[in-house]
Amino acid sequence: MTQRTFSIIKPDAVRKGYTGAILAEIEKAGFKIVSIKKASISKEQAKGFYYVHAQRPFFEDLCTFMSSGPLFLMVLEKDNAIADLRTLMGATNPANAEEGTIRKQFAGSIQENAIHGSDGEDTAAFEIGYWFAGCELI
Ligand code: CMP
Repeated sequence: MTQRTFSIIKPDAVRKGYTGAILAEIEKAGFKIVSIKKASISKEQAKGFYYVHAQRPFFEDLCTFMSSGPLFLMVLEKDNAIADLRTLMGATNPANAEEGTIRKQFAGSIQENAIHGSDGEDTAAFEIGYWFAGCELI
């Protein structure tokens, strides 16, 4: 079933010049880029986006990092998009990520891990709606 997911190319990957290489991996894996935009987000916007992690010890650092430079916000589409993107991304900690995954190739640490992908249908709906208006999803 065709499904949409939300993804971010994070500030670490943009800074290192990996945006094009990561987009190539995503397209090679069969994802259609429904929408993409570059943004510099505030720490408050990052806190709203990651609200489920508000009680975690890494929350403040994560939100500082996510607001530290430009990133790319994306809506991606394919069959089984949510699970397939998470497989393509690899484990949260790049040290545990499988060979060939985006995080294995491009991530530097568990926090600065190059890419985000929604972890379920409800999360994808929230995350797409947080960053994109309906008229941008064409
Ligand atoms: P992401 O998939 O965007 O979801 C939450 C983010 O929090 C995660 O990627 C990492 O960037 C960060 N994160 C998760 N666990 C840790 C951790 N133990 N220490 C630091 N950052 C973390």
